[in-house]
Amino acid sequence: MHRVTVGFLGCGNVGGGAYDIIQRNREEIALRDGIEIVVKRVLVRDLNKVRRSSCPREIMTTSASDVLDDPEISIVAEFLGGIEPSRTYILKALNAGKTVVTANKAVLSSCWSELETAAASNGVGLYYDASVAGGIPVLKNLDYCLQANRIDSLVGIINGTTNFILTKIADEGMSYENALKLAQEKGLAEADPTMDVSGMDVVYKLSILASLAFDCHIPIEAIYRQGIAAITPDDIRFGASLGLTLKLLAVAKRTQTGIEAHVHPTFIPDTHPLAGIRGAFNAVFLNGNAVGDIMLYGKGAGALPTGSSVVSDIITAASAKTHRYSSFLLKDVRAKLTEEWESCFYIRLTVCDEPGVLASIATILSRYGISVASCVQHNANDGTAPLVFLVHRVSNIAMRSAIDEIARLPEVKAVNNTIPVEY
Ligand code: HSE
Repeated sequence: MHRVTVGFLGCGNVGGGAYDIIQRNREEIALRDGIEIVVKRVLVRDLNKVRRSSCPREIMTTSASDVLDDPEISIVAEFLGGIEPSRTYILKALNAGKTVVTANKAVLSSCWSELETAAASNGVGLYYDASVAGGIPVLKNLDYCLQANRIDSLVGIINGTTNFILTKIADEGMSYENALKLAQEKGLAEADPTMDVSGMDVVYKLSILASLAFDCHIPIEAIYRQGIAAITPDDIRFGASLGLTLKLLAVAKRTQTGIEAHVHPTFIPDTHPLAGIRGAFNAVFLNGNAVGDIMLYGKGAGALPTGSSVVSDIITAASAKTHRYSSFLLKDVRAKLTEEWESCFYIRLTVCDEPGVLASIATILSRYGISVASCVQHNANDGTAPLVFLVHRVSNIAMRSAIDEIARLPEVKAVNNTIPVEY
């Protein structure tokens, strides 16, 4: 039996979940992997806080050095979240010859090269499967199962809170505000849900996921982002009448001009495998040039699902003879990113219900080479009417320019939403 001594930085939801899994599945892990995991010290902010986890108070400490400077601890699992002090603690652990396991997408996506370089130069490991899609081993699959492939595209639902909100709006016609409130009451969304609803949480995760998938560094600043706050039940209802389901998607593709990476609400056909991903679940749909389409589905958050990925990383790290490094980071291979990408689009306008409006809009669309696939006018009210267009594939930049011009037409009262459609 190989005994591995671990220190935890943090014991919140995920840290507590990882601790409980280690205790609960001790026999299975010992039998299968020949490893005994001993959690020796756990850094917490408040020793007296009541916790759901079975982690005993005696191993808790408020001093990071009890974890980072203990020579017996060979693996440090970081659960603090955010960039500092996580970055400083992770670097300290790596430089002290300890392997680090982290669930922290913010520190990883923001300081990845620095952390990977520190791990490689010290000959220790940096493991982060839990940082993307919680319990779904999507990063591990890229590293250990799909290496035979060149990945050409990935599309994912990798934020459970927003998927829960969009599902509630779609199924129950709830307003965005009420669906968000419910997500908060259920403990899904944070008290400050900005990271989730703005799409920033997805940007962090897509930066990590797409960099690994395409073997080049895709920094967070390079990813186009649009959140879900402007979505209304009307959009979801109008989309449904066209056979479309709305999801907040992370999209990354290899194209002839480079890599495109973007995060935004997106309509997909009701028949698309991602359309059936409901509530707080996550899924990642990948295409590899050998395997073809493959989809991974599961819980993207929560104490035990995310803890499952963390404990798996601890076992992988403890079993490894040598550690794997992302060579694109060590060799500083940067993505050739393209800001221009193509998509079909859904456009919802509020227009004056009078002759010539459609012609004015169509003239602008045609000037930008944008071809209309369908146009539906919904019930007029007080002389204005919602007008919904679906347009064929066009560059996002041409679409934006056309929309700016359409918004200036006096007959157009509002451009309510412009949403990409992925077929
Ligand atoms: N807040 C995230 C979500 C989980 O709702 O999926 C942590 O990344």
